[in-house]
Amino acid sequence: MDRRTFLRTSAFVSAGVAAGVHPALAADADIEISPQAAGPEISPNLYGHFIEHLGGVIYDGIWVGRNSKIKNIGGIRTQFIEDMKRIAVPNYRWPGGCFADGYHWRDGIGAARPRTYNYWQAAMPKGVDATESNQFGIHEFMHLCRLCGARPYLAANMASGSPREFHDWVSYCNAPVGTVSLADERAQNGDRQPFGVEFWGVGNESWGCGGDMTAAEYAMLYRRFVTQFPAYPPKPFLVAVGPRGHSKDFDLGWTTGFFDAMQGHHSRIDGLSVHYYTDFRNSPEKVATFDARGWYDVIREGLRTETVIERHWEAIGKYDPQHHTKLVIDEWGVWYRPGEEIAPAYLLSQPLTLRDALHTAVTFDVFNRNADKIAMANVAQTINCIHSLFLAQGDHFVRTPVYYVFEMYRNHMRSQLAQMNIHCDELTVPSRGGTATMPGLSGSASINGKTLTVSLTNPNLDSSIPAHIRLTSGSILEGRGTVLTHGDMTAGNTFDHPDQVKPAPFPVNVSASRAEVTLPQRSVISLELKIA
Ligand code: AHR
Repeated sequence: MDRRTFLRTSAFVSAGVAAGVHPALAADADIEISPQAAGPEISPNLYGHFIEHLGGVIYDGIWVGRNSKIKNIGGIRTQFIEDMKRIAVPNYRWPGGCFADGYHWRDGIGAARPRTYNYWQAAMPKGVDATESNQFGIHEFMHLCRLCGARPYLAANMASGSPREFHDWVSYCNAPVGTVSLADERAQNGDRQPFGVEFWGVGNESWGCGGDMTAAEYAMLYRRFVTQFPAYPPKPFLVAVGPRGHSKDFDLGWTTGFFDAMQGHHSRIDGLSVHYYTDFRNSPEKVATFDARGWYDVIREGLRTETVIERHWEAIGKYDPQHHTKLVIDEWGVWYRPGEEIAPAYLLSQPLTLRDALHTAVTFDVFNRNADKIAMANVAQTINCIHSLFLAQGDHFVRTPVYYVFEMYRNHMRSQLAQMNIHCDELTVPSRGGTATMPGLSGSASINGKTLTVSLTNPNLDSSIPAHIRLTSGSILEGRGTVLTHGDMTAGNTFDHPDQVKPAPFPVNVSASRAEVTLPQRSVISLELKIA
């Protein structure tokens, strides 16, 4: 990338930051794409989801109950199902999160279900009850998956559960009727066909809420949990607990400590779970009220996902040069400090804005570009929590700006990554730390037959960017585009104003085999180009 700087004089910048002035005019960007040098397939699972029994995620967000006046299918909010189908949701990770390590799956089956303690009770405001009703259990979860066409990904309880409880859950889910009693019990509870769960998370954050273990302690337990994994189809994809990627040193010590302790053992490790939050919990940064510094700081922090991926991939490669173990970005999103929840019981719900949409887009570009390393990535969490696509409360329901980025990136699923070189000025931007630099444009491209999908994000608050797109071989025949932007960087969608931020058609000029577009300031665009 060229490094033509926007910084005219240091005096201008420091005066500019104080006065809230932003980077200067952007020059043109040249984008070169090589569709014939197609890379790995972009797994749909890079656009995956995480839903936990936390605040308003499951209860009210997804599960409204069979007798609710809110439109539902077997207790599941109809609007949620329809909107998730629209973005072709590939998978759901459930039941946690921290909740998973206190969850006993038998509590959520059958007619008489106990009320149990929920891990998140301790974080609830005074007087707000988080008692788990267990109305939403494995059968309801599988119903959700089937209604949406999504694959299940279950997280096992390692902290307060046992290998036996885990193995029984696997048998209950996957054994054919007539084999073990657990399979017959599943049939009696309404599901004769095995659930066919392939993805299994063996614990969650075992360095924290999942047992406060060292990497070596966890490795020992991991082996006990997976060694006698019941061998019913499908072949499982086992995900081990990985690092807290948003730690200062990316928590590389966890990854190396775990693989060190697994040396000389034979247990399979198909995935290593990385949690990477753009973590502003200890910063003054607010969700919906911010200035240019906050705008750029959040998006820049999102771009760091790539460094986290590269560092852990490199660390794993020392133990596993063939890279059998892939990364699973189990939890990602922007996490602000508390105080702006939609209601006290809706713990960690955040009124997201256009800024978070751009953060989503640059994160997806990172995932696409690293499609060879990542098996799955799950946004935390789909509804009413942290980096949500929706906010819901009773009969109110709204899509956040983040939802539309999922929709705009949908065509990348199952396409092959195409090499793309962006030549564009680097930005010097205001930051809480003074000034910082960042790429002037972020993007990724993929090819599916004769359709090239190109996603581009212009984070510049002040300048649009004219971009010239050409192929290294072949030509562009026609194109159409979609844009997500708004005149106000803090714009978001609310129950009262649900359509403030939503996509609009975007003009693409194709001439002489090239595509010419002008990316508005603070925008994400998605292009569908027909090529020959
Ligand atoms: O997503 C909220 C919480 O963040 C999850 O329960 C936990 O795994 C992580 O710390």
